[in-house]
Amino acid sequence: MYTEKVLDHFMNPRNVGEIADASGVGTVGNPRCGDIMRVYLDIRDGVVKDAKFKTFGCAAAVATSSMATELVKGKTVSDALAVTNKAVMEALDGLPPVKVHCSLLAEEALQAALWDYAVKNNIVIDGLKEPLPHEQEGEALGIDLQ
Ligand code: FES
Repeated sequence: MYTEKVLDHFMNPRNVGEIADASGVGTVGNPRCGDIMRVYLDIRDGVVKDAKFKTFGCAAAVATSSMATELVKGKTVSDALAVTNKAVMEALDGLPPVKVHCSLLAEEALQAALWDYAVKNNIVIDGLKEPLPHEQEGEALGIDLQ
């Protein structure tokens, strides 16, 4: 069902944890399955120096969080915005169709963290949309990632 890369990133997830005083933090949740993901970004001089995550979710949610944080490290903010769920899925050699929505959570968490960074720094990132309210309220699903 899962590719070797998905299984590897699920069993050996990269970048688990949090970043103190992160430049941007994004928390999203999927109300249908109850999974929650939080992404932390350390951005300096417009470049993502570090990325970490905490995910309470399925294997695909953990693997896509891991790969998404790997893909954004070292990228400029605008290049990080191009790390979509499609890019994450491709890097993982695909996901089963029923698990595609899990990769959307990774994209949304990343974009929510970029949005948080933009708001904190009073800047506009071309092409970045404000997260929908439900995407900002992972905690509302009842799981505290702290
Ligand atoms: Fe919820 Fe995968 S089943 S994110």
